[in-house]
Amino acid sequence: MSHNTIALNKQRQPLDHLESVWLFGYGSLIYKADFPYLQRKPACIYNWQRRFWQGSHDHRGTPQAPGRVLTLIEAPGERCAGMAYQVTPDTFEHLDHREKNGYLRVFTDLHWLDAPDQSDANTSGLVYLASADNEAYLGPASDEAIATHIARSAGPSGPNSEYLLKLAQALRDMNEHDAHVFAIERELLKLTPEC
Ligand code: SIN
Repeated sequence: MSHNTIALNKQRQPLDHLESVWLFGYGSLIYKADFPYLQRKPACIYNWQRRFWQGSHDHRGTPQAPGRVLTLIEAPGERCAGMAYQVTPDTFEHLDHREKNGYLRVFTDLHWLDAPDQSDANTSGLVYLASADNEAYLGPASDEAIATHIARSAGPSGPNSEYLLKLAQALRDMNEHDAHVFAIERELLKLTPEC
């Protein structure tokens, strides 16, 4: 599958018939909301885990030297917390462009983190997923190798380390622990203590 997914997302999943759509962000979409939204609520999804296994040619790296950013992998029994945004369908013009480097949108169940009334505890929403068959996929590596890769990478959106550090801080601000993210952050801070 080509790593530019703009046309594919549009063709597989037209959204124009909907009034609004929930989008779940688990990576940069948690801390960088550069699009209009109607509401924003902390949420989580089950049976998925964040992993720094996707290459970034367009934001935190270049085609010659891709950075490493997040995707989700299936992980039965696991929980991934993030931020959900209610948006109008036209917002996906911008979002599909932003997430064009191998990500396809899929619907999944979202669960609100602060849902006092459990009868209204979930809804369906879209998530951008970069699966192993996209050309920008990099796959697993040790925490140290991922941190080393992140430390040396940068692209049009800035240093790859900023992506990791902002995400780790955003998760802390939500009182969320993510062992994978925090382990790579620890390795990065050993390499670049000035961060
Ligand atoms: C997301 O944040 O939900 C997708 C991955 C990214 O843009 O970092």
